[in-house]
Amino acid sequence: MLKATVILDRDYEIGPVDPRLFGGFAEHLGRHIYEGIYEPGHPTADEQGMRQDVIGLVRELNMPVMRYPGGNFVSGYDWKDGVGPHDQRPVRLDLAWKSTEPNTFGTNEFVNWCRKVGAEPLLAVNLGTGGPQEARELVEYCNHPGGSAWSDLRRAHGYEKPHDVKLWCLGNEMDGPWQMGYKTAAEYGRIACETAKLMKWTDPGIELVACGSSGRTMPTFGAWELEVLQHVFDHVEYLSIHTYFGNADGDTPGFLAKPDAMDDFIEETVALCDAAAARRKSPRRIMLSFDEWNVWYHSHGPRPEPWLTAPHMLEDVYTFEDALCVGGMLISLINHADRVKIACLAQVVNVIGAIMTEAGGPAWRQTIFHPFAQASANGRGIVLRAIVRSPVYDAKERQEVPYLKTAAVVHPDTGELVLFCLNRSLDEPLAVEVDLRAFAPLQVAEWSALRHDNLKAANTAENPAAVAPAEHRGATVDQGRLSAVLPEASWNVLRLREI
Ligand code: AHR
Repeated sequence: MLKATVILDRDYEIGPVDPRLFGGFAEHLGRHIYEGIYEPGHPTADEQGMRQDVIGLVRELNMPVMRYPGGNFVSGYDWKDGVGPHDQRPVRLDLAWKSTEPNTFGTNEFVNWCRKVGAEPLLAVNLGTGGPQEARELVEYCNHPGGSAWSDLRRAHGYEKPHDVKLWCLGNEMDGPWQMGYKTAAEYGRIACETAKLMKWTDPGIELVACGSSGRTMPTFGAWELEVLQHVFDHVEYLSIHTYFGNADGDTPGFLAKPDAMDDFIEETVALCDAAAARRKSPRRIMLSFDEWNVWYHSHGPRPEPWLTAPHMLEDVYTFEDALCVGGMLISLINHADRVKIACLAQVVNVIGAIMTEAGGPAWRQTIFHPFAQASANGRGIVLRAIVRSPVYDAKERQEVPYLKTAAVVHPDTGELVLFCLNRSLDEPLAVEVDLRAFAPLQVAEWSALRHDNLKAANTAENPAAVAPAEHRGATVDQGRLSAVLPEASWNVLRLREI
């Protein structure tokens, strides 16, 4: 049997998890907004047209932050189209996704929805076709108490109190040629800097995210960060990074190794941020906002005919192995809690979504819902630096991949220790022994395992619980050592509590 050992010491801390690590992303794309979160006439719709079945599921994911309205969509979006009386809002062509945008859902509806799901809004401004003026006007509309044209317009729209939106993204993926208003690093750095100044002069209490690279394989990765940070270093708190993984060639061992490239991407981007700091002899540290991450590949291919409203697109039906990959990505995020302060699962409903809906019908949990919900529920504490010795395998694009991928979070208030463990062996169980030195005596309170005999199993409207976590037994703690045999191809959450 494969055997791995882990050493955990209560004093070896990576740092506290910022709850915003478990955020989401909602874009005007396909059926995310319309038929996803907003569907007046749906049997569960509330008085504002929001689907309460979806609200319930998003609350289960417990996402403290929600990014909106894009994504690629934001780079052609005029926020003024989405506020005010519904019958006066223009219908627009969205060039990002070749769809027709009715604008019946906009900033105010989004903020309302955020309050219902318990999330703080993270609003992106348009730095593609838009610029500093529109961006700062949106800050004034949302956050200024009143007595100015834009804040009084908000009040006239029925929102007397400011929305108090604290977090803002300076555009989206501006390094990508697919982006409306795509820019060189120097062009983006300049406009981001000027936009940041105006936005913070309008409301000094806000925090800003500048665009980093939209992927580690971007040809400009590295050079982009250094140039952009030259311009915005003193004006922003966070730099964004984005990653999507897929298994298009059916190479599951290679697919499950991919989260380790997320570790590399984070560490390289941190190095770039710190190089920018060193260059100006600054003790300031730019933190990361991993504001798009997920598995995305099932829906690559032909797109729907253009100019439909809320077309079915990017509706990946996730499999069990996708959930394992997402579990690995969550472990990567947790293990970098010292520098990744915000992360957004991209996306939440229907569009590469953790939740799927049918128009007029049910909503259900996709496979990837489960590792996310479990990490969000159990991963908020202090992350420990685990010393892992695991047998390894060679994947096509990566050598010496440890079968065991793990993160450990201790909860100081309760003394509880939570281990997230991924066994990447497809055919062998993995015996794990954890040396719990310097912990008070612990016992296993719960072991939840996500596993399935079929790597391609999926949840559907007809069978929504085909893939779901189940209680697992057999873990013991003896003389400060935890022993557990992780089933082959499994995601595991082990909760240990003080005796
Ligand atoms: O999440 C889907 C798309 O992926 C987003 O609109 C874009 O930012 C990224 O390329």
